[in-house]
Amino acid sequence: MLSMYKVFVIGFFAVCSGNNFSGNRNNVCRTFKDYATISTNPNCFYNPDVGAHPSIIAQRYGYPFEKYKVVSKDGYITSMYRIPNNNKDLSKKRIPVILQHGIAITSAAWMLNGKKSIAFYLSDQGFDVWLPNGRGTEFSTEHVNLTTQSPKYWDFSFHEMGIYDLPAIIDFVAQNTGQKGNIIYIGHSMGTTMSFVYASLLPDHAKENLKGIISLAPIAYLRNIRSVVKFAVPFADIIGNLLENLGIHSVGNVYSLSRQLVSSACIMYPLIIPCEISNIFLTGLSFGQVSPETIPVILSHYPTGTSIKTLKHFAQLYNSHGKFRLFNYQRQENLNHYNSELPPDYPVEQIKVPVTLFVGRSDFLSSVDDVQVLFNRLRGPKSMQVMNENGKYEYAHNDYVIGRQTTLFRKDLLNTLRNL
Ligand SMILES: *[C@@H]1O[C@H](CO)[C@@H](O)[C@H](O)[C@H]1NC(C)=O
Ligand SMILES: *[C@@H]1O[C@H](CO)[C@@H](O)[C@H](O)[C@H]1NC(C)=O
Repeated sequence: MLSMYKVFVIGFFAVCSGNNFSGNRNNVCRTFKDYATISTNPNCFYNPDVGAHPSIIAQRYGYPFEKYKVVSKDGYITSMYRIPNNNKDLSKKRIPVILQHGIAITSAAWMLNGKKSIAFYLSDQGFDVWLPNGRGTEFSTEHVNLTTQSPKYWDFSFHEMGIYDLPAIIDFVAQNTGQKGNIIYIGHSMGTTMSFVYASLLPDHAKENLKGIISLAPIAYLRNIRSVVKFAVPFADIIGNLLENLGIHSVGNVYSLSRQLVSSACIMYPLIIPCEISNIFLTGLSFGQVSPETIPVILSHYPTGTSIKTLKHFAQLYNSHGKFRLFNYQRQENLNHYNSELPPDYPVEQIKVPVTLFVGRSDFLSSVDDVQVLFNRLRGPKSMQVMNENGKYEYAHNDYVIGRQTTLFRKDLLNTLRNL
């Protein structure tokens, strides 16, 4: 959903591009207005995190960085990063935490907020941080038999990521750390959807391996979204089918050119303001929470590839008026796949692992009402928290990951992690 919209934004801003990121020129500013005079303004500076690979960002902040590859049962190869420690306490056994990012971005999402990024914060707090990159994103494009040129490669949604990639990732972490049963999973947005698919369909695997699931901006039941994406959603199947008939099975993975254009355009004052406003319409309003100086860092890593099928699956959840269920192939195909005319619901009541849900009132995608439905259906240990900072900033969709003020959230997250 987000990527489709972004393609429009890309087209719109492409005409205005012309900036250049190479060299050490200023690329971020402290206020929107400073961007008007970015090259000479003392409130602007060069941030090397803009466009940098996660390995470079991690090293810049002084963290060790490792890379792994994990093969799923259906042949997809997930690249996974790891910050094993914070260069201190090397002897101490660390609890592994898997951080699973949302749609159309990579694991870089957990490092885009400077030193206070969640990946670094959890490393400082003594956790062994694992960072998988979702299939189809720029860092995970391999498959044992298929290339991304093949339509078959893109025949997946968050469903396959949940039932194939997550078990492979979790087994890999368990084997490499000897911490089976102690692993903690933290998902954001689609990262939460994947975990609900996984833990409801493979409840025993989840129970044997995970100590808990923590969900930031949970997405399962989608009845009450307020984002502008809902106006596009009724047409998503038609548009999706049209694109697929044209041979387009993925979006967002034209990153080299389009992202450069968006990033360049969006740091040119006054275009940075509509860029930020489009972000608000998509994900929620929490004014003052995303710092103007963080926006170029985010846009240099977003969007990246995802399948049309993923977008269609999300659209189906919304169009079903609040059902969280498997992909709808239409009647005959459903009979072949599921032996029923309609796709079955994900049995979230089967989840046995403790689930902690964080939701915000300013979130336009993950609403308190919808998360309450999920909470009510869970039968295992559970808790739900409506997040704000000192009663001031009600959280929007991405504030957990890129918010300017996240002191209370990080305290609550740490408490949750320690009490699991
Ligand atoms: C961008 O800037 C660098 C160094 O300032 C220069 O070498 C390069 O040619 C520029 N590229 C474009 C496309 O203008
Ligand atoms: C890959 O191709 C080989 C040879 O055709 C086949 O045996 C195997 O099942 C395929 N693997 C996957 C995951 O599709």
